[in-house]
Amino acid sequence: MAQDWKSFNPVLIPNIPDLAKIDVYEKNGGYSALKKILVDEKWDSKSVINEVKEANIRGRGGAGFNAGMKWSFMPEPDGGPRYLAANGDESEPGTFKDRKIFEFNPHLFIEGCLIAAYAMKIDAVYVYIRGEYREFIKMMDKAIDDAYKKGYLGKGILGTDFSVDMYTHSGAGAYICGEETSLMESLEGKRGYPRVKPPFPAQKGLWGRPTTINNIETLANVPHVINNGASWFKSIGPDSHPGPVLYGISGHVNKPGVYELPSGMKITDLINEVCGGVRNNKGIKAIIPGGASTPPIRGDVIDGVTMDADGLREVGTLMGTAGMLVMDEDTDIVDVITRISHFFDHESCGQCTPCRDGTGWLYKLMSRINRGEGEMRDLDLLIDVCNKMEGRTICALADAACWPVRNAVERFREDFEAKCKKTVYAVA
Ligand SMILES: Cc1cc2nc3c(=O)[nH]c(=O)nc-3n(C[C@H](O)[C@H](O)[C@H](O)COP(=O)(O)O)c2cc1C
Ligand code: SF4
Repeated sequence: MAQDWKSFNPVLIPNIPDLAKIDVYEKNGGYSALKKILVDEKWDSKSVINEVKEANIRGRGGAGFNAGMKWSFMPEPDGGPRYLAANGDESEPGTFKDRKIFEFNPHLFIEGCLIAAYAMKIDAVYVYIRGEYREFIKMMDKAIDDAYKKGYLGKGILGTDFSVDMYTHSGAGAYICGEETSLMESLEGKRGYPRVKPPFPAQKGLWGRPTTINNIETLANVPHVINNGASWFKSIGPDSHPGPVLYGISGHVNKPGVYELPSGMKITDLINEVCGGVRNNKGIKAIIPGGASTPPIRGDVIDGVTMDADGLREVGTLMGTAGMLVMDEDTDIVDVITRISHFFDHESCGQCTPCRDGTGWLYKLMSRINRGEGEMRDLDLLIDVCNKMEGRTICALADAACWPVRNAVERFREDFEAKCKKTVYAVA
């Protein structure tokens, strides 16, 4: 059921001064969801998982998988340790929304982790945070300390027999460490190489033990689902992809920023009403809707398109992290895709040949075309390289590197051809 976005009240980053302080958070209803399940109503873990599953919180880290469903994959306890890894690596160009939760509402996220830990019988939560977020790591450490002091973390939480510990862990600048299995390698102190799946993390995760990985924003939604019910969550935005979303909007708009609004917002409302329109009243050349890895779409197809999985699928793209990049009519799309290709070439971990070599080839070819030195056949070569990379590697970075290139060549072919046509051949 859709709700009027203009009357929507933010719940993830509401406008409450000093909400990052634990006392303020408590005064505004904070930790009441945890109390509800542990003390007041004594929910069992299965009821928590079912409520979260029913809410259909689709993972906000990019893949959009139902969080409760993922939690239900954790095996029954066998006496050994079990882990939750909260993914705050946030290193994809165009994505900058989890930082707002660290900065403005860390206790909501901690409470979400605690509820997840209770539901999945987790012993320790690791919060993996992008290394460049130095200040936010400090803020999270302070929030975690305060939660320990108040008895929300540690042994015998709220006088019950539920115990869990929580730690932050800093990344060191590698985008690949946001990929869930690579994140676990990094947490274990190793080089951030993605693991082959199966086994999946729920079976064999951190230190070989059952582990669930969730994005920060995904977990921050959980206390609200427990307090208000799955039906409340599903009343926000479309049924197939409900709830509040942190839209991180950048590029050629007058008011870029992170805006919390219902899922399923029209792209044009986000640009024109929320972000005050395109700079200098220009037209729109292209949109990248959900971080640099999601396929770009042309500005002339966005009318009526909504920001949710189904809406974006209709125009051949993905919701990703809802980090939307807006490019005006003067944008050199070939140049943009060249830069994106450079990013993926730089960030490939190098384990798989199709990705290690393929990202390099994509960048080399894109650079050649961008310099005006490309030939028309290079466009076919780009697609051919993508065909040899997609679905043939350990992790999804290779696919992520291909999608912008493949879709840009197909959707903005005239721009690519215009650059190729500039090639001057020397005649002997
Ligand atoms: C190369 C790569 C980088 C990723 N980076 C992130 C990231 O920074 N943050 C994140 O939450 N998910 C990231 N993901 C997705 C994670 O692997 C995983 O799907 C996600 O953390 C699961 O959480 P969710 O189900 O709550 O979305 C990345 C995936 C890939 C392939
Ligand atoms: S696809 Fe690329 S980033 Fe992922 S494991 Fe293979 S080489 Fe590494």
